[in-house]
Amino acid sequence: METQSRKAEHLRICLDEDVQFRQTSSGFERYRFTHCCLPELDRCDIDLSTLFLGKPLSAPILISSMTGGTDLAKTINSRLAAIAQHYQLAMGVGSQRVAVENPDVAATFAVRSLAPTIPLFANLGAVQLNYRYGLDECLKVIDLLEADALILHLNPLQECVQAKGDTNFRGLLDRIGVICEQLPVPVIVKEVGNGISGAMADKLIAAGVAAIDVAGAGGTSWAKVEGERAKDSRQRRLGQTFADWGIPTADCITAIRATAPSVPLIASGGVRNGLDVAKAIALGADLAGMALPFLQAANESEAALHELVEVLLAELVTAMFCTGSQRLQDLRSPGVLEKF
Ligand code: FNR
Repeated sequence: METQSRKAEHLRICLDEDVQFRQTSSGFERYRFTHCCLPELDRCDIDLSTLFLGKPLSAPILISSMTGGTDLAKTINSRLAAIAQHYQLAMGVGSQRVAVENPDVAATFAVRSLAPTIPLFANLGAVQLNYRYGLDECLKVIDLLEADALILHLNPLQECVQAKGDTNFRGLLDRIGVICEQLPVPVIVKEVGNGISGAMADKLIAAGVAAIDVAGAGGTSWAKVEGERAKDSRQRRLGQTFADWGIPTADCITAIRATAPSVPLIASGGVRNGLDVAKAIALGADLAGMALPFLQAANESEAALHELVEVLLAELVTAMFCTGSQRLQDLRSPGVLEKF
């Protein structure tokens, strides 16, 4: 029950309050594409398709893990699943801990029937592995979703700002390694908006993680969200002090690509338009993920979601056309993206 009401408050706060980073940006604004005045391409021939963990997608976009557990969450998940299926995008659901605790709410996550052919990702907080969760719980959330992979999220700052947060992270890397070994599906590790460094990515990859979502700084700030929720003045102050903490998303991608050139990599945290998606791909990410923009559109209507995806695709295609890039990997050709 406690987990369920916390999830309802997260949605309300993310929809009604200013929860984004102010001073720390995603870092994409430090890069610009070199304009190509003669692309030698027909815009119609631009190909956005890609593969992620062996599954085909029609564009390199992930609807990031957000919600489940309440009636509103069910509506939002259903709308997100339908749009992901329509455009063949990847989708994650929010932490399924609430469904492990209370099987009555499992249906608020169960979107596979609406999205039969997309890569769908289950979600749990990695720290729960230190609080009595193990292989059984991981298998349960994968089954519930008929998921293609399990996302384990790392959120040490959020747990600090949250009253009575789960802050024992000791020994977690080994526990993640054991889960990677035992699960029948790949494990993706993500942050929630404070980023993953190159050094941490190396450790996670060595532990057996199949893919990484950097979820860097620059978009939704969970210190802000939890600070808004806090009743206690000390927790509120912690939220304010750490509101802008984290590694910018663009820096996470370049750092991880410098040390792990081939790990399947998702860029998220402050990706706000199709040009950011193009820059994320040019910097070496395989997919770009967005949470808050999809939440806002899903809360509005199905039509708003269609409009959001159409504009994202148009922006991405335009960036590709005006750099003479027919396929996504062409965005990574020398001289296409420059830092300034
Ligand atoms: C999230 N996020 C998230 N992540 C996760 O792994 N499990 C979760 O349950 C949630 N819950 C959640 C709820 C809501 C309402 C939002 C907006 C976000 C984090 C999310 O997946 C993403 O990493 C960050 O929000 C950064 O992306 P944006 O919002 O800047 O695009």
